[in-house]
Amino acid sequence: MTRTLSARRCAWRGLLLDEARHFFGKDAVKALLERMAEHGLNVFHWHLTDDQGWRLDLPGMPELVRFGAMRASSPRPGEDASSDGAPYGPFFYTARDIREIVGFAGALGIRVVPEIDLPGHVRALLAAHPELACEGAEFPREPLCTWGVCEDVLCAGSDEAVDFCGRILEAVCDLFPSEFVHLGGDECPTARWRSCPRCRERIRAEGLPDEAALQGWLTRRLAEKLAARGRRTVVWNEALRRGDLPPSAVVQVWCGNPAAEAAAAARKGHDVVLSPVQETYFTLPEGLPGDPYRYRAWVLENGWTLPADRVRAFDPFSFVPPDLAGRVLGGECCAWSESIHDRAELEYKVLGRLAAFGEALNRPF
Ligand code: ACM
Ligand code: ZN
Repeated sequence: MTRTLSARRCAWRGLLLDEARHFFGKDAVKALLERMAEHGLNVFHWHLTDDQGWRLDLPGMPELVRFGAMRASSPRPGEDASSDGAPYGPFFYTARDIREIVGFAGALGIRVVPEIDLPGHVRALLAAHPELACEGAEFPREPLCTWGVCEDVLCAGSDEAVDFCGRILEAVCDLFPSEFVHLGGDECPTARWRSCPRCRERIRAEGLPDEAALQGWLTRRLAEKLAARGRRTVVWNEALRRGDLPPSAVVQVWCGNPAAEAAAAARKGHDVVLSPVQETYFTLPEGLPGDPYRYRAWVLENGWTLPADRVRAFDPFSFVPPDLAGRVLGGECCAWSESIHDRAELEYKVLGRLAAFGEALNRPF
């Protein structure tokens, strides 16, 4: 079924664009889709929700963008959290915008895979709906203005929170025809679940071994909802560490030992998409002389760079043993935008390496 994504060796030739941390808008997205098509890429993974912003105006849920699409400031990484002081937004896409982009992408042979990151990376959602947070969690009614991983996550013990996510996914399925819907699942701290009475009761009632397993429980529930709409769930690889998922779920590997993570997921029967940081994260500077964007970028304390030649050498199939090659759908490069502030910077950081990525993923059999 998934092989119908494309008849080439890599069926999934993707680019992730994070528009939650910074927002680039329809024209920039369309220009990027055109470049993707030129380079033979066919999956636009649209990261539309995170701690720092909620960019989807969904019918019947006006609070999402009323509270989630604007934040008080956007500090540059490594600087004081209050240093920039410039309100950012409101920025979001309407249902009409989404249909326009999906249609534009479709005409170029690109499918749009939306990501609703759950149950972590949800501070913008919780700004709109504080009632979906764990008991005892306190935070201002606005998205996060700093970067990194946030302790405030969705209350997996709350039936209301689970139902609300179901409604969000229904609306997402109405808007996006893609067979695949990404549920995120990365970087989800469990501290709130440990102390929340509702979450502790859920763990008890469901016979779960610990709070980490709550994520697996919730993801299975949401995956069932998507399956009922004929969709396949995609998750980041950490989600699979938190409990088994239906074999139809696709696992996107970014962190840990990518080869071990990909092989483990494939052995459980999952199709995998490879996005290892050191090969595919355009967050890393290219290392070009005269880079005008030389301030410290987030995730870069290690000093890594990602030159185009390394991207060109990327082979998703090299991460799994030959007997699991049939589980590799392909690869995806990632433009996370904590340190990408506007369209010019986006194009500087993405376009050159996008061409290299296209070469890598369109190699003949
Ligand atoms: C990720 O980079 N947090 C998936
Ligand atoms: Zn809770």
